[in-house]
Amino acid sequence: MTSFARYDRIVDAYSTMWPLIVPGYVPCLNAMLEAVRALDLRPRDVLDLGCGPGSAIVAVAPACHPEARVTLVDGAPKMLAAAQAVVGSRVAAAICDDFRTPEVLARITRPLSYDLVLCSFALHHWDDAEKRLVLESLARSVRPGGLLILADEVVADAPAGWDVVGRVRMRMIDANITSGRIPKEFVATEAALPAELRLPFKPSRTDEVISWLARSGLAVGVPLTVFGAALHLALKPV
Ligand SMILES: C[S@@+](CC[C@H](N)C(=O)[O-])C[C@H]1O[C@@H](n2cnc3c(N)ncnc32)[C@H](O)[C@@H]1O
Repeated sequence: MTSFARYDRIVDAYSTMWPLIVPGYVPCLNAMLEAVRALDLRPRDVLDLGCGPGSAIVAVAPACHPEARVTLVDGAPKMLAAAQAVVGSRVAAAICDDFRTPEVLARITRPLSYDLVLCSFALHHWDDAEKRLVLESLARSVRPGGLLILADEVVADAPAGWDVVGRVRMRMIDANITSGRIPKEFVATEAALPAELRLPFKPSRTDEVISWLARSGLAVGVPLTVFGAALHLALKPV
């Protein structure tokens, strides 16, 4: 059984560390808000899958309906508790489980349940087949006119092995460690993670992700790709 303890160990540092580790993270969160605003969705029923401390729902909250209700899902109890704390009375359900488990996925993604589905930096640990199953279920759970927002790490092209994205990212992270913006304690916590608690890093190709979403009946666009992260917007036609 998968353990999400890696995320619980860094819950307090997560919101300040992720922007320093993933260069596309803040741009993706900002663009989510712009997308929901531009579509004038005013979503009432929202799902945040792999919510972490609630970063994505907090990012889009200004564009949500004032009476919006949010279903939060995360396998890490401390992360889920942090998200519950920020969403407060607007929590419709808080589910602490592995969202790849068929019964859990079926329960969360009942057909036509949501105006907005958020899946932000929560799928890159899993195989393409697992991602595709999750995304197909998420697509079914979106109402006509509703939106699925998928932000995540993606495979970046490395022509002739020239991995510019990987090198620039590592240089940025090194600079943040040297300057102390990423504290040594955080680096030590991550480095001391026992092997059995490590989660694999399995970014997918954007063209594959677009194809899975399109085959699920959604109209897909990728308005933003930043140094190995991409924002996918997938609308369900009315
Ligand atoms: C990198 S964090 C992203 C958190 C937040 N969505 C954000 O945008 O910052 C990934 C989160 O997804 C959760 N997660 C990843 N895979 C999961 C799974 N299969 N089931 C439940 N939670 C999962 C982790 O526990 C973690 O809190």
